[in-house]
Formats: sequence, C-alpha cells, structure tokens
Amino acid sequence: MNREAAIPNLLTALDLYLARFDGPGIADVRAGIAKYRDVPLQDVTPSRIAATRHADAALQHMKASGESVLAEAIEAAMPYLAWGAYDPYPREEIGEKYAENHAAASVIGSRGHFKSQDFDLGLFVFGPDTVYRDHHHAAPELYAPMTGPNGWRFASGAPLVWRPAHEPVWNEAWALHAFKSGPVPFLCVYGWTRDVRIPARMIVEPDWADLDAAIAP
Ligand SMILES: [Fe+2]
Repeated sequence: MNREAAIPNLLTALDLYLARFDGPGIADVRAGIAKYRDVPLQDVTPSRIAATRHADAALQHMKASGESVLAEAIEAAMPYLAWGAYDPYPREEIGEKYAENHAAASVIGSRGHFKSQDFDLGLFVFGPDTVYRDHHHAAPELYAPMTGPNGWRFASGAPLVWRPAHEPVWNEAWALHAFKSGPVPFLCVYGWTRDVRIPARMIVEPDWADLDAAIAP
C-alpha cells in the first residue's frame, strides 16, 4: 500500500479504534482527528530506531489476540512512519532501560503526516517489563493501549494497578502518571489535545525500585 493510502487508512483505523470507547478524553481526541484528517499530507522522512522492534512484536501479539484488522492497518503504515525517542528527561532520572526501549511516531502533529501545531496523535511503544517512571506534562493526554496488561499509578507512592489492553487512560494537565508493561510490549494510540509544545517533566519518586520489581499478575 502506498503512503497516500496507508497513512489516511491508519488514521481511520485509529479513529475507529477510539470509537469503541466512551470514557474521558475520547471525544476530545476524536474531535482533533476530525479537524486534521483532511489537511494535505506533509512530507515525513520515515525512520526506525532500535526500539521500533517492540512495535513489530506488539503487532504480532495484537494479531494473536483478535486485533488483526487494526494491526494490519498499522503494519501497512509502518514503512512511512518516523519513529523516534521522546525523552526530554535527564537520563539518570528516566533510567537507561526505558530510554533505550521506547519509540513514538507522530501521525498528527508538527512533525506528523497531518500537520498541526496544537494537537498531537500517534503511536507510542516501549519494551516488555519496563517502567515509564512518574512524569507529568501540560498537555492533557489520552493513552489507548492496544496491548496489555499494564500496571498504572496516578499518585505518588501508590502501587501499580494492572489493567488489560483496551482500557484507555486519560491524564489531565500536569497529573502524575507512571506505568509499566507486562510480558508484552506496551503499544498505544496517544493523543495530546493542547499545550503540546511544553515538554514533559519527571517527578522523582523514592520507590522506583519497587516499580521495577513489580510483576504483572
Ligand atoms: Fe504522559
């Protein structure tokens, strides 16, 4: 499938995926998709980084768990996506494992296929048994995980609560969140609905070793 077919097809598939849900933030993110879906595609230079392999693995898990249609729409777009790291964090705080094993690809955004300066939507992945430590950002954010289970917390010192795939999470502006993948790489649709240029920040917590040690049920 060529880019002019694969990228709009991917956006439609992600929108249809989000249409399954009705929780907080879903309507905001779908409104952003509706707003930008008809703008002309801008040139994006495709790229892969080492961590993109986790997206390949996650797609295989999706296919094995009844999500072939969605996985194949993503797979068809893979040759055209620009995967890169998003870690505006001090390496000693975010940790080596996460830093080396995550990747994101923008579909709508300043460097996405559909250009936007105030809305971001794309795919985000990190490897198995990996913690994305406590952080927050100005942008309200939707994560819709297509793989699972994943352990989440939304308060300092709280234990991780494990949730299956296909349970979206909405983070209000500057709300703390940390999450961990289980044995399957974490792959989600992410949406940032405003204040997208303000970088995320870490929140240093004393119990990161406990999160590292937590095991998916
Ligand atoms: Fe976040």
